[in-house]
Amino acid sequence: MTALLQIDGLVMRFPIAGSRAVVQAVNGISFEIGEGETLGLVGESGSGKTTVGRCILGLIQPTAGAIRFRGQDVVGGARRQQRELRSKVQLVFQEPAESLDPRQTIGSSIAEPLVARRVEASERRARLLEAVTMVGLDAEMLELYPAELSAGQQQRVGIARAMITRPELVVLDEPTSALDPTARAEIIELLQRIQQARGTSYLFISHDLSTVRFISHRVAVMYLGMIVELGAAATVFSRPGHPYSVGLLSSVLLPNPRITMASSVSLRGEIPSPINLPNGCYLASRCPFVIERCQREMPAASDLNSGHVVHCFRHADVEARDQEVDAFALFQDEAERILGVGDIAQAG
Ligand SMILES: Nc1ncnc2c1ncn2[C@@H]1O[C@H](COP(=O)(O)OP(=O)(O)O)[C@@H](O)[C@H]1O
Ligand SMILES: [Mg+2]
Repeated sequence: MTALLQIDGLVMRFPIAGSRAVVQAVNGISFEIGEGETLGLVGESGSGKTTVGRCILGLIQPTAGAIRFRGQDVVGGARRQQRELRSKVQLVFQEPAESLDPRQTIGSSIAEPLVARRVEASERRARLLEAVTMVGLDAEMLELYPAELSAGQQQRVGIARAMITRPELVVLDEPTSALDPTARAEIIELLQRIQQARGTSYLFISHDLSTVRFISHRVAVMYLGMIVELGAAATVFSRPGHPYSVGLLSSVLLPNPRITMASSVSLRGEIPSPINLPNGCYLASRCPFVIERCQREMPAASDLNSGHVVHCFRHADVEARDQEVDAFALFQDEAERILGVGDIAQAG
């Protein structure tokens, strides 16, 4: 079976005005998203997550690499084909208010993508009501303006606007980061319900690990434009094989002070600049597992088991370290506590 989306060797460099230096934002990453699958993309701020999303959406042209949608090239192909393929991919932003025109009613904001596609007025009306019902807003709200809605309702509008074109893939860039816990739980539940009903695939970008754990089937961990680890969400959270993933899990300030991470890894030292990346592993300067080889050579992918891939020479030692506390179980508890849910079907 062909994956819905295939990314192969994606590279994105941004030139710096008045300089010959470039920002190496994405440095040759590959991954796939299957139909009806949620891939979580995590990593510290500046690791390149948003840039990956913008490449997929066609908002920026990648420096190198292939992006295929159902096997068809989105980067190379003819313009018309690109447009057609891209119409099947939509975006949901972090700040719903910023993506909505304050002078436009909710109804016209949601229907706007259909106007651009020259969908007839009667069909537009039907699709608008369908989208609004799907996200759980009242039809009366269509006449309101964004400022009259709560942040959670605004994000529902953002989702309705993305879903009205019936996309096959939605890139969600920190969609719940600006929301309070109750609204966050509602949006996550809504996204899962839509996925079950329509089989929509999601690229779920977030630094909120509890939410990512909850909604993702698989997770990719990014650091300085590289995917350092990728695998089933349950595996990556319970038996991470890359020191960076362990560090990320260890460093999360869980709101519950009872929970502390044993067998943690603390990443010290300077993060290299994306303008001047080192030769070997990008984590070498911060990694407690570092050996001399890491300074010279970028670790290739090691396939640990059934699609759990880690880029680290020391992955066996990382995996074998004393795991007194099951990070996965903690995140499970914490996700349920934060999201205030116990009955939402766990994704992966
Ligand atoms: N348009 C741009 N011009 C120059 N540098 C950029 C641009 N967009 C992003 N970057 C840089 O690329 C890197 C990755 O950024 P981004 O994709 O926003 O990361 P994330 O979403 O993970 O926080 C950062 O170093 C950022 O400063
Ligand atoms: Mg970002």
